[in-house]
Amino acid sequence: MLQLLAVLILSCRRKMERPFPLILLIATLVMAMPLSFGVEENQLSYNYYMFSCPNLETVIQKELLRVFLLNPTAPAAFLRLMFHDCQVQGCDASILLDSETSEMASSRNFGIRMREAISNIKSTLEEECPGQVSCADIIVPVAKESVSYTGGPQIQIPLGRKDTKTTPSFKEADAKLPPPSIPVDEFISLFKGMSIEESVSILGAHTLGVGHCLNIVGRLYDPTQRT
Ligand code: HEM
Repeated sequence: MLQLLAVLILSCRRKMERPFPLILLIATLVMAMPLSFGVEENQLSYNYYMFSCPNLETVIQKELLRVFLLNPTAPAAFLRLMFHDCQVQGCDASILLDSETSEMASSRNFGIRMREAISNIKSTLEEECPGQVSCADIIVPVAKESVSYTGGPQIQIPLGRKDTKTTPSFKEADAKLPPPSIPVDEFISLFKGMSIEESVSILGAHTLGVGHCLNIVGRLYDPTQRT
């Protein structure tokens, strides 16, 4: 699951290098992120909100505690939300946009949930530090907190992502997000830059969360056989 996080960040920003073991993957991921200690436009930084929203992490953690206590399945939803946001046009919160043709209209986003919780956290942050924090910089830390809350490591993630100014089409989501029927060779090529071990381990994210029968029934039974 931790590896997933890495992949996410990978797909959203820069590349990552190696590891298979979960924690190593995450660590690699983090190391692959641009380390900038000054705040420059279009660059991520570990102290991006040091002056503009110093309590960002505390606010997010406080808000999430309430969400997690009310809904123990929420961490899985947040982790997948990050993957699906970052995989399509980068980590730009475009998955929060709604229109008849936006990426949420793609069948690949079936089962995506908890978007409203991101909006709620955004509202709280607008009171704390108006106009400072992008929704993209909420989705990623929320996934990070979801990983640690469910027993994973505490990951340091640089911030400074910008929200999208365009609405990606559902066609882009169709092209970039894998279907549940994806064959092994295709999902290995999907995670470019990762080894086979990393590609497989990242799917360990699915030890967390829920799925619908219709997405796996085709792998369980031969549709031509009826008993
Ligand atoms: C080949 C790549 C992948 C495929 C084909 C895939 C497919 C799926 C499918 C079909 C579901 C169930 C949706 C439902 O029935 O409601 C699901 C759920 C989930 N996926 Fe993936 N996924 C992939 C990669 C990833 C990655 C890289 C991550 C995280 C980094 C991830 C995290 C999750 C999580 C946490 C859930 C549970 C969501 C929930 O409980 O709401 N997946 N995925």
